[in-house]
Amino acid sequence: MQTQSLWEHTLTFFPQFLAVLRERVTPDSTVVVVGASDGKFVLPLAATGYRVVAVERDALAVHGGEVRPPGDSQVHAMGLTGRLKLEKLHDRVQVIEEDFLAGEPLDVPCEAVWTSCSWHYSANHHRPLAEFVDRMQRLVRPGGVFGAEFMMPVEKRHHLVEHYTSPERLRRHFSGDWDVLLTLRTNEFTERPHIGQPHDHTHRMGLLLAARLPTPTDRL
Ligand SMILES: C[S@@+](CC[C@H](N)C(=O)[O-])C[C@H]1O[C@@H](n2cnc3c(N)ncnc32)[C@H](O)[C@@H]1O
Repeated sequence: MQTQSLWEHTLTFFPQFLAVLRERVTPDSTVVVVGASDGKFVLPLAATGYRVVAVERDALAVHGGEVRPPGDSQVHAMGLTGRLKLEKLHDRVQVIEEDFLAGEPLDVPCEAVWTSCSWHYSANHHRPLAEFVDRMQRLVRPGGVFGAEFMMPVEKRHHLVEHYTSPERLRRHFSGDWDVLLTLRTNEFTERPHIGQPHDHTHRMGLLLAARLPTPTDRL
């Protein structure tokens, strides 16, 4: 890649998600990325051959603009659409610039959905976490894959907000036609400054990967 995401160096379980995708869905499948930001995961997915639908509410992340990375003076960030053009991947990616929780649930059936550290944003706290999860789940076709990495509570204030969750609590949303494939969690770790976080800071992250059971006719 010639371009880099502003989030390039943050910790991620994305390789685990990618491994499950390779096992379970065909190479030309559609993957929806909720909270796509400037494409840290959208670009590698598109470069691998998947069709990608990128949902992002932040205009700066989508179109680029002036940002102030830690320690740097203001720089111009390219944004998702600029990066896609430069990397010649725009034909494989549909960008939906909207709030995932606004209006009717998105109607984009897909083989896989992925989100990375998005639902804990305070803009989502006015709606239950279950709604965010449900909106993601209903996009996934039978046989498809759900993947989410998420912030777990570290500070006292996090424990008051259900959106800082844990693999155990999240698992409750995956009964019925869902099969939880993998859950992981980190211990507390220190992350270097990144966009929006000017100092070293502590995170704890979780992962849940699940598969939607095939319908009985799919199994024939
Ligand atoms: C932590 S950033 C993503 C960083 C991540 N490592 C990556 O590049 O995918 C989370 C993104 O989710 C977006 N987001 C959070 N809630 C959203 C919502 N309800 N609808 C659309 N985007 C949302 C934020 O605007 C932000 O760009």
